[in-house]
Parts: sequence; structure tokens; C-alpha cells
Amino acid sequence: MSIPDGGSTDVRVVDELTDHQLDDLVGLYRSTWWASDRTVDDARAVVGASDLVVGLIEVASDRLVAFCRVLTDRHVIAVILDVIVHPDRRGAGLGGRLMDEILGRPELARVGSIELVCQPDLLDFYRRFGFTDQVGSSLLMRLTIDPRLSG
Ligand SMILES: CC(C)(COP(=O)(O)OP(=O)(O)OC[C@H]1O[C@@H](n2cnc3c(N)ncnc32)[C@H](O)[C@@H]1OP(=O)(O)O)[C@@H](O)C(=O)NCCC(=O)NCCS
Repeated sequence: MSIPDGGSTDVRVVDELTDHQLDDLVGLYRSTWWASDRTVDDARAVVGASDLVVGLIEVASDRLVAFCRVLTDRHVIAVILDVIVHPDRRGAGLGGRLMDEILGRPELARVGSIELVCQPDLLDFYRRFGFTDQVGSSLLMRLTIDPRLSG
């Protein structure tokens, strides 16, 4: 479904992906350090099992140029994952647009805590949306088979 777009950019917002857009998502994943090997089957599974998805579609080319997704119980917690802007379109506000779209979703309006994991260089990017790295004495722990996510 396309969502009415109140923004002034050359993109439209979607909350689900077509097969063509899943192919585009594989391209976005290739540009990342943590998901570069995901296939279209992985992308379909990941998108299908996510609770919320935001895609930004470049109107002129009809290609997916930005994406993120959320896992949430819609009450206590939500985790934002796979925040990605196409390398050609970075630094022009689409990342901010993506975050505004996801944080504005009504499904997250009453969620107690919205969380994400990021590299140190992105702290300032996420701070502008209200996120903090002041999390008391909490530490991230992880049980993973993915060597990119440990060490
Ligand atoms: C992070 C990302 C989504 C930001 O998207 P974007 O469209 O470039 O973001 P915007 O144009 O809205 O905002 C850019 C701002 O974020 C900062 N920023 C973005 N990526 C950054 C990075 N890797 N390191 C440091 N600062 C970064 C820029 O300095 C810029 O700040 P400024 O406006 O003060 O100059 C995009 O760079 C991306 O896809 N990166 C690769 C995937 C990734 O690492 N995703 C984050 C997973 S936690």
C-alpha cells in the first residue's frame, strides 16, 4: 500500500515491497557491512516477518532508494533494523526522512521503548531523533553465529 506523502521530496512512501522492490532491497543490503550477502529469498523472509516496513521509492525511476524495518509488540518495545539509504542518495536527507516516517507510525505511538544498534559514527545521526546512548548500566549482549556481529 502507498502511504499519502506529505513530504516535498522526489520520493513516495510504501509500507510493503513488491517483488521488484525486493530486488532493489538486495542491492541496498549489498551496500552494507552487516547484510551484504542477503539474497532475495532472505529479503522476502525478513520483510515478510517484520512488523513494520518503510520504503522510499524514487518517483522518477520507481526504484527503492531507502528502507528500514521494525520488530515490535506495539506496546513495550520496538527495535529498528536495517536503516539503509542507497549510496547514490546519501547525505541528502533521505535517512532523516526514513526515521521521521518510521517514528511517526501510529503503531509505535504508545511503545515504551524504541531501540536500535549502531556504530559510533552514527550516534549524532540518531540523536537528532531523540535517541540516546545513555542507557544506565545496560550493556548489549548477543548470541550469534554471524562473525560480523561479534569480536
Ligand atoms: C546512515 C544512513 C541511513 C543515513 O542516511 P542519509 O540519507 O545519508 O542521512 P541524512 O542525509 O538524512 O543525514 C545525514 C547526516 O547524518 C550524518 N551521517 C550519515 N551517515 C553517517 C556516517 N556513516 N557517519 C557519520 N555521519 C553520518 C551526516 O553527517 C549528516 O549530517 P549533517 O546533515 O549534519 O551533515 C546512510 O548513510 C546509510 O545508509 N549508511 C549505510 C548503512 C548504515 O550504516 N545504516 C545505519 C545502520 S544503524
